[in-house]
Amino acid sequence: MEVYADYAATTPVKQEVIDKMMDIYSVHYGNPSSIHSIGRDARKYLDEARRTIASSFNAKPSEVIFTSGATESNNTAIKGMAYDQMDKGKHIITSKIEHHSVLHVFEQLEKEGFEVTYLDVDKQGIINLQQLENAITEQTILVSIMFVNNEVGTVEPMYDIEEIIGKSNALFHVDAVQAIGHLEIDFHEFDIDAMSITAHKFGGPKGVGILLLKEGTSLKYQQLGGEQEAKRRAGTENLPQIVGLAEAVTLANQYRDENNVHLMNLKNLFLVSLQERSIPFELNGSMTDSTGHIVNLYLPFIDVETMLTLLDLSNIYVSSGSACTAGTTTPSHVLQAMYDEEDNRAKHSVRFSFNEQTTEQEIKYIATEIHKIYHKFKEDV
Ligand SMILES: Cc1ncc(COP(=O)(O)O)c(C=O)c1O
Repeated sequence: MEVYADYAATTPVKQEVIDKMMDIYSVHYGNPSSIHSIGRDARKYLDEARRTIASSFNAKPSEVIFTSGATESNNTAIKGMAYDQMDKGKHIITSKIEHHSVLHVFEQLEKEGFEVTYLDVDKQGIINLQQLENAITEQTILVSIMFVNNEVGTVEPMYDIEEIIGKSNALFHVDAVQAIGHLEIDFHEFDIDAMSITAHKFGGPKGVGILLLKEGTSLKYQQLGGEQEAKRRAGTENLPQIVGLAEAVTLANQYRDENNVHLMNLKNLFLVSLQERSIPFELNGSMTDSTGHIVNLYLPFIDVETMLTLLDLSNIYVSSGSACTAGTTTPSHVLQAMYDEEDNRAKHSVRFSFNEQTTEQEIKYIATEIHKIYHKFKEDV
């Protein structure tokens, strides 16, 4: 059996998405900025994708900016807002468990003279709301907090966070990458100023994403050139990918509830299967405030590199955490922020992530293979 269980890193592109994209590649191939009829035909598809995405998140079409993915969306939003607001103050806030495409931008801004507060999280991976409230001052211009953590699946308390930020003048950016297809997101109800999304985490193509930017929010845009995306992001729109992204968003929202039930069942089955086999483990993160698609396990009997190699030999493909740092031996900054056990827990933790294609049979196969590995290690000790 072969099991891909690294869907938080990326997902295969859905057939419906491929079909829509192929049509654009070969038939509606025009440049949406060209004024002839082939260009106008392409523009129709671009406008339709924008409307579809806007309505999926209760945003306005004019609030949708297409990008090359969440790394670009995060960079554009955070740098753009910080530079634009710096006359009002130079204090910015984020959490210690953000994706590197957020954290590294904050670190860069810190080097440039911004004052940064990195919020702590508890053992569930939930940010400290009191610390957020205490940290905000009149100098605070921006807060960036992720919706769902990509390593442990913890869902941050967005309503509480928004309420605290809402009392201040700070802008609010949300990296919503891992929430799409799992949580219903109403852009206006959450009162978010900017939100980042990428298509390849929910059956869309790689290299395309969205920055939702609330009407009236000004940014210093970094990418200059043509007048695409209402002069907010220069460069010919990647129309086939954008049309694929719109289809992937539609499907993710359409099947969200049934997929969530399936994923929660799989998560429970996985944990029960490990318990039944008497494998020592602890769940990293929260069982209740989390999405079903990510299960991060502390497996104290083995180090993560050995585990990944042995699972790979059993044709089970998982990772130690963020794919962007996979291949390196740097312990997870997320687990280090969550637990006070120096590096130890991070060095023995593995992220399993599932999607709607994952079956119960696959879950049981993973549990069986972990059991074999555990026994081999127990005998060796
Ligand atoms: C939470 C989070 N933010 C940002 C990104 C970066 O997305 P992209 O690969 O589209 O640049 C990822 C993907 O790994 C992610 O999981």
